[in-house]
Amino acid sequence: MCSDVLVMVLLPVLRAQEGPPAPPCPTSCLLCSQEAVICQRLSQIIEAPGSTQALLLTEGSISRVQTSSLSDLSNITVLGLSQNRISELGQEAFRNLPFLQTLLLDHNLLTGPALEGGALKGLSQLEVLALGHNLLSMIQADWFKGTEALISLKLEGNLLRNVDSGSFPLNGLRDLETLDLSDNLIDRLDENSFNGLVSLRTLDLSRNRLSSAPAEAFSYLSWLGNLNLDLNSWNCSCELLELVELLSTFIQQPDKVPELS
Ligand SMILES: *[C@@H]1O[C@H](CO)[C@@H](O)[C@H](O)[C@H]1NC(C)=O
Ligand SMILES: *[C@@H]1O[C@H](CO)[C@@H](O)[C@H](O)[C@H]1NC(C)=O
Repeated sequence: MCSDVLVMVLLPVLRAQEGPPAPPCPTSCLLCSQEAVICQRLSQIIEAPGSTQALLLTEGSISRVQTSSLSDLSNITVLGLSQNRISELGQEAFRNLPFLQTLLLDHNLLTGPALEGGALKGLSQLEVLALGHNLLSMIQADWFKGTEALISLKLEGNLLRNVDSGSFPLNGLRDLETLDLSDNLIDRLDENSFNGLVSLRTLDLSRNRLSSAPAEAFSYLSWLGNLNLDLNSWNCSCELLELVELLSTFIQQPDKVPELS
């Protein structure tokens, strides 16, 4: 899913493998160097050198992340824990990772309570957060306290039912450009659902259960150029016509008028 991003981020790291010998590498690891550690099929987070810039432990059975598991990785920029069985995140689990830009937690077993304890606190440089394909049934503005640099937030393939004024912080995600809410159970939006997401350019709401949506939900998203509303349960009522009208005026380019199927 994020593999293109990863290759781009990792290439410079992979090319610069010099310096002291790397620590012993478990047999399921593809790479253990001073800059990058890439392993699969692990059941817990292994210790990586303090100089690590990218740590990718995917397709394993890791079930929780505690602050101490990652404590000395002060220079890390990419942390990938996709496709594990993570259901628990310690309070401020990523506290000591001040330069982290990409955090991939997709395809795990995370529920709302795992994120409620301030797990994402301190990630002030975080730009990409992947939480897709977990078990999240709600989103709360509180989770994003301190993640003010976020540009891309992926929440596709969860169990979300509702996005309202309490889902995103009013001031905390002002740089967010991409929001993926596709493939959830969302049947309701209100006029304040995306309040505060003033930089949003791409919003994916496809594969949900929307039968209608107030035009006001999108009217203040002045940068929005790419809105996907495919594969919902649209009911051709007057409210919907208002939405279509609004979208076609502010999207302007005729080829970008959203499809409602
Ligand atoms: C982190 O990066 C800085 C700047 O490149 C470097 O001086 C420092 O030694 C690195 N820290 C560790 C623990 O490797
Ligand atoms: C569609 O909208 C009409 C008019 O608002 C309403 O009477 C009807 O129950 C709606 N149908 C569904 C399936 O929501």
